[in-house]
Amino acid sequence: MNRTKIAGVGKYVPDWTITNFDLEKVMETSDAWIQERSGIVERHYIRPGEETSSVMGAKASKIAIEKAGIEPKDIDFIIFATLSPDYYFPGNGVLLQRHLGITGTEIPALDVRNQCSGFIYGLEVADQFIKTGKYKNILLVGAEYHSGGLDFTTRGRGVSVLFGDGAGAVVLQPTTEEGKGVLTTHIHSDGTSAELLANTSPAMHGGYYDEDKEKYGFSDDSEYRYVVMTQKMLESDLLYPFMDGQEVFKTAVRKFPEVIIEALKSTGYSTNDLKLVIPHQANLRISQFVQKLLRLRDDQMFNNIQKYGNTTAASIPIALSEALDEGKLQDGDLLMLAAFGSGFTWGSALIRW
Ligand code: UT7
Repeated sequence: MNRTKIAGVGKYVPDWTITNFDLEKVMETSDAWIQERSGIVERHYIRPGEETSSVMGAKASKIAIEKAGIEPKDIDFIIFATLSPDYYFPGNGVLLQRHLGITGTEIPALDVRNQCSGFIYGLEVADQFIKTGKYKNILLVGAEYHSGGLDFTTRGRGVSVLFGDGAGAVVLQPTTEEGKGVLTTHIHSDGTSAELLANTSPAMHGGYYDEDKEKYGFSDDSEYRYVVMTQKMLESDLLYPFMDGQEVFKTAVRKFPEVIIEALKSTGYSTNDLKLVIPHQANLRISQFVQKLLRLRDDQMFNNIQKYGNTTAASIPIALSEALDEGKLQDGDLLMLAAFGSGFTWGSALIRW
């Protein structure tokens, strides 16, 4: 049977760099707090109106496609992971197809809604299609435009300082090279704590998930059931993402190692065999915890959250692109990808490069 190989990788981040000191000017925060709690030094933002997540996704895709030595028209399946799509619907997959000028191919475009784990979820889906021989050039993209949806007042500082914009993309192809490619993938979810890291408004729940409809400002009158946005949402912090940072942190440092060990066990490898681990870049402290728990050396762990913040679905392909540019992966190396985030969802992928 075919295995899936990553044939081309691309990344794109907007050139507007926002330092912690820039954030100090708009909210009560400090470079010291942000660096100590998250490791982040700077992140990149889109200039409003100039780009979107699908536009950034297209820029990263063009690089990945070129590196794979193919043309956009050769892509036979698009998978787009994002929590910050251009529209409520349709999803970014079809918009990316349009940006790449390949609408005439009528290839399928799938949108993945798994936040920080979106890239790993997309990889598992793509892997199944490649293994069965159905598709031969799958474009998997993760892109996020966070800066347009964050609360930049002091009220939102616990979340806003962490996130950045950017995109990463890979072209996935079949390989018959002995022992190479995606060796195993594992994806999981547990919706018990769905609201601990979430953006629940605007949306179509009409107050269903809350006993107190007052919270969202929904009227009891059934004619307002389908209201997507209320005046109260506009006037409060309900339109912004919410995160119970400490709970998310505690679960992340359990689930990252768990799902990495799951991948190792299923293939018979140990942490010593790993050349590089690329975790979703959620927080440098989380990565350091995971590294310590798994007794990984510094050179086995890749971190670049310092420069980009948390770019959710884009963080793994951005990091992969950078690791390759820095010569950290050679032919035959064993690479572990792992993610955890909102949902909660989490996953891992073990790849022989
Ligand atoms: O990618 C998806 C997964 N996401 C994550 O994995 C994130 C997981 N969580 C975290 O990374 C951490 O919980 C945070 C970095 C979000 C927060 O760090 P923390 O050590 O858990 O801080 P905290 O939320 O307990 O807040 C400590 C203090 C609070 O003040 P008081 O109540 O002690 O007076 C906050 O109000 O820090 C305050 N604070 C800030 N101060 C300056 C919160 N945000 C900021 C800020 N600047 N930006």
